[in-house]
Amino acid sequence: MIQRQRIVAGNWKMNKSYVEGRELVKEISDRLQPTDTMVILAPPFIHLNNVGNNIRGVANMFLAAQNCHWAESGAYTGEISARMLESIEVQYVIIGHSERREYFLETDEILAKKIDAVLAHNMRPIFCCGEKLEVREAGTQEQLVEEQLRKALFHLSPEAFQKVVIAYEPVWAIGTGKTASPQQAQDMHAFIRSVIAGQYGDEAAQATSILYGGSCNPSNARELFGQADVDGGLIGGASLKADDFLAIVNSFS
Ligand code: PGA
Repeated sequence: MIQRQRIVAGNWKMNKSYVEGRELVKEISDRLQPTDTMVILAPPFIHLNNVGNNIRGVANMFLAAQNCHWAESGAYTGEISARMLESIEVQYVIIGHSERREYFLETDEILAKKIDAVLAHNMRPIFCCGEKLEVREAGTQEQLVEEQLRKALFHLSPEAFQKVVIAYEPVWAIGTGKTASPQQAQDMHAFIRSVIAGQYGDEAAQATSILYGGSCNPSNARELFGQADVDGGLIGGASLKADDFLAIVNSFS
């Protein structure tokens, strides 16, 4: 059987001053026990260089950005390109987080262009998908998630697709303290894997890491990560405290 990568990624969102971020990364990298799990930190842009310097050389720690622009360079005031991120050795970029879709009006078409930019600069996208509460209540979450995958990812060649990590994040569970049940997570992850299998084949589907995100914390992580198709987590609030984040990293049985 193909061994998928186990991943725990911390998305700091728009939190931490420079000094606070310096303290947090130091605590996490100093206290991380040797692990097979890939630990990814996604701090705000201003922290990337420092976090990168702190984790370089720590086994299994990787650097991610939370977003990037699709263009190479140019007149896009306030934006950061994939080329810039590559130049400071960023390895992953979160693309399509529901907060980007909601507050910054990022459409599936924009996300497809960002995915291409990330891959063109030798980084790996962590592509977020997931439904809002009204979609879950209508029972159409699978159609919605399939459409998100198709529109942003399925133009990729099989080789390029191998670089993609998926994060399923039901919007109703993000920052709300309301986690998807382990069964709800497993059902959607298995569905996502079946959609990938339909497009790229079973082997590619088995090799894709699919993370769960949405109010994941030290008390529910073990059960979520114990599901057959859940390969780890994308952690928001609980990634801002070293104790909680490290406990989640150690939650694989
Ligand atoms: P949360 O956020 O863990 O605070 O719910 C998860 C995410 O948005 O990635």
